[in-house]
Amino acid sequence: MSSYAITGASKGIGREFVRQLAADSANTVLAIVRDPNSSAMSELASNHPNLHVIKGDVTDPKSILEAASAACTITGGKLDVLIHNSNAVDMATMPSNPTQFPFDAEAIKAMFDPSFNTAIYGGLWTTNAFLPLIEKGIQKKIVHISTAMADIDLIKKTGVSYAVAYSVAKAGMNVQVAKYAAELAPKGIKVLALSPGWVNTWEGEKPPQVVEANKVMLKQFQAADPELKGQIQPEESVRKCLEVIERLDSETSGLLISHNGDRARWT
Ligand SMILES: NC(=O)c1ccc[n+]([C@@H]2O[C@H](COP(=O)([O-])OP(=O)(O)OC[C@H]3O[C@@H](n4cnc5c(N)ncnc54)[C@H](OP(=O)(O)O)[C@@H]3O)[C@@H](O)[C@H]2O)c1
Repeated sequence: MSSYAITGASKGIGREFVRQLAADSANTVLAIVRDPNSSAMSELASNHPNLHVIKGDVTDPKSILEAASAACTITGGKLDVLIHNSNAVDMATMPSNPTQFPFDAEAIKAMFDPSFNTAIYGGLWTTNAFLPLIEKGIQKKIVHISTAMADIDLIKKTGVSYAVAYSVAKAGMNVQVAKYAAELAPKGIKVLALSPGWVNTWEGEKPPQVVEANKVMLKQFQAADPELKGQIQPEESVRKCLEVIERLDSETSGLLISHNGDRARWT
């Protein structure tokens, strides 16, 4: 019997974590979403009595503290595993290289803020809000969903020069995770930055520019993994992530590792 809280659970990888975990009726699953009334979440919750949907925005300290308080009431004050999965990006500047960023303080802030707010401040507030519950849990695991785009070796191998704000924020997340792991080790709490692989979470038909961008990325990622054929599905990513989370121990605490359980196979 384990309990899990997942932020950014409304869609994509977050919703798949909820789906796979709630399928085991022995688990208690807390799906933290900004809109608890969304149809996808309501449908999942109506089929799973062990799933509780809680309102929470990781970029708003008051909101995430209220979410932790609601979780506390449901679980009796404890939590085994926290998965901080929420993410936001400024889509307009995802294709930009660093030399294209403007000498404009306001514009730069708008490009970096969504990623920093969710990955760094959101990671910090979510972790601190749920920490008292994790301290009382049995597994004592905190996972931040990161990305291989923040791995310097992979950037060097693939030559991926875009996704600047996103990658910089996730690199900050990785350092923050290492700091938490160092601080919380004496309490037996393990903290991991976990890359889920290259996952197709696009809803509906992809517009032509996304199809083209994916072709470019595939070529670049193949420089690191010549066998790579394309994106994996959320089912495979989350199944493998859950295996890595199951094995998380004091040895791997503090690291960025992939859904394949190592620091080599990122896709
Ligand atoms: N897909 C990939 O290939 C890939 C690769 C590497 C890493 N990742 C990481 O994996 C995670 C999930 O990715 P994904 O592709 O599933 O992303 P996604 O489909 O864009 O979903 C992002 C989730 O974050 C939520 N979110 C955004 N802002 C939030 C906020 N302020 N507070 C709470 N939740 C918020 C969204 O909820 P709303 O519905 O409320 O907006 C949504 O549920 C992310 O951390 C991403 O960086 C993904």
